[in-house]
Amino acid sequence: MRRCFLPGILERSPQSDPVKRKGFVIAIDGPAASGKSSTAQMVGEKLGYLHIDSGSLYRAATAAILRRDPDPSHWSDDAVLEASRGIELRPARTSFYPAMDGQGIEDEIRGADVTRHVSRVAQMPRVRAWVNEMVRAAAAGRDIVVDGRDMGTVVFPSADLKIFLTADSRERATRRLRQRGTPTSEQMIVDETKRINERDSRDARQTVPASDAVLIDTTSLTQQEQVERIVTLTDRTRS
Ligand code: DC
Repeated sequence: MRRCFLPGILERSPQSDPVKRKGFVIAIDGPAASGKSSTAQMVGEKLGYLHIDSGSLYRAATAAILRRDPDPSHWSDDAVLEASRGIELRPARTSFYPAMDGQGIEDEIRGADVTRHVSRVAQMPRVRAWVNEMVRAAAAGRDIVVDGRDMGTVVFPSADLKIFLTADSRERATRRLRQRGTPTSEQMIVDETKRINERDSRDARQTVPASDAVLIDTTSLTQQEQVERIVTLTDRTRS
């Protein structure tokens, strides 16, 4: 495990934040399958903070445009935003979740079709601006744990605590296959690692750690250990 404390994160005073907010913001970023969302949700549960998964909005926008027009060569920022008009973020017990036209869409946004096309939608600047506004509006005035790729750099540059989770791509592939609960062969791990490396390159532009983020390499950590570290860092930052 490698963990480095970069300057500024623990000793920052509230006065140094350019944006005054009421709530405490924990921004967790990292590449695909680094465990961000499940870790963020568990941290939120432990601390009593709500969780927002910003990737779920890129996925919801992708599901919306796929419903309207399955040919990605026709997609533009305008078309995606128009298709996404019925999307909202709704608070539930531990997390916000996206709904479309009043209906939950969790299964649809986690499906293979959405996963295949979401990187393209996430490159669209006006879609990014729309997601960022939705996330900021949901977070306003609350204690919150947000996860994504650019939470600590673009969306909440003055977040109280910034974490960047990394893990070896083969380990991420193995975890993803394990989650599916089916027997796993070496070839499946090799294929999934390749898919994860491809997703990393598609998302590379926006997946950059903030200069004041705490880097946590989770390759040899359990999820419980990751959660504990972030909770401990939060306690230290708050006190
Ligand atoms: O974390 P995820 O796999 O659910 O993210 C889905 C897609 O959205 C992925 O292509 C990365 C992109 N994304 C992004 O560009 N910025 C974010 N803040 C969150 C996700």
